[in-house]
Amino acid sequence: MAEPFPSYLAGVAAAYDGVAGLYTELFADVLDRQPLERALLVAFADIVRERGGPVADLGCGPGYAAACLHRSGLEVFGLDLSAEMVSLARRSHPELRFEVGSMTALDLPDQTLGGVLCRYSLIHTPPADILAVLAEIHRVLAPGGHLLLGFPAADESAAGVQAYDHRVAPAYRWPPDDLARLARQAGLVEVAQLVRAPTGEERGRQAQLLACRPGAAPSTR
Ligand SMILES: C[S@@+](CC[C@H](N)C(=O)[O-])C[C@H]1O[C@@H](n2cnc3c(N)ncnc32)[C@H](O)[C@@H]1O
Repeated sequence: MAEPFPSYLAGVAAAYDGVAGLYTELFADVLDRQPLERALLVAFADIVRERGGPVADLGCGPGYAAACLHRSGLEVFGLDLSAEMVSLARRSHPELRFEVGSMTALDLPDQTLGGVLCRYSLIHTPPADILAVLAEIHRVLAPGGHLLLGFPAADESAAGVQAYDHRVAPAYRWPPDDLARLARQAGLVEVAQLVRAPTGEERGRQAQLLACRPGAAPSTR
């Protein structure tokens, strides 16, 4: 398991505590404006439902993606570093469970989740720590469980990961193939990538990576 609470996390938590209200106002309805993101989330829900098992939305922010997965028939809970985000998520979605915690050290037994969603939350993890977090996600995913990662893609001309001027906390844009390679090193298998052009106020290409922990779900027959 990864070391609990690396020091950079306190700054990320404090930064999101400070903007949680504004972030919720700006993004709680973002899936209504992003048909491709919404479609992929619903496809993820379909794939995970087939396997079964609970789903964790890691770095859930205001909880709108967890709520979307719940509406698609999944048992889902959210986890976030920011106590303020968790409090707003609980207020907006009282039917769901949201807890304060870090994806760097999940308080979950091995191989228990049918799915993990990390929507724009792994972006604040320093590149040197990414593999440990992906290994932690691999640890808690059950065989056949899926991970959906959303992140800003690095410029096509970039040689690798790029730090960028995120408005809340230090963050990184990844070439999708580089993140897929690290996911493979953590034991996951790439299923799909979606890279799309920016829309609205987005400042660059956006990517989604779907990966799975190999192995069949236990037969129920
Ligand atoms: C850009 S927001 C994304 C929120 C939401 N997933 C969305 O798509 O709108 C990043 C969120 O990830 C959380 N976060 C960053 N690092 C985290 C970690 N190691 N563990 C849990 N949450 C984390 C932050 O507190 C913040 O709420």
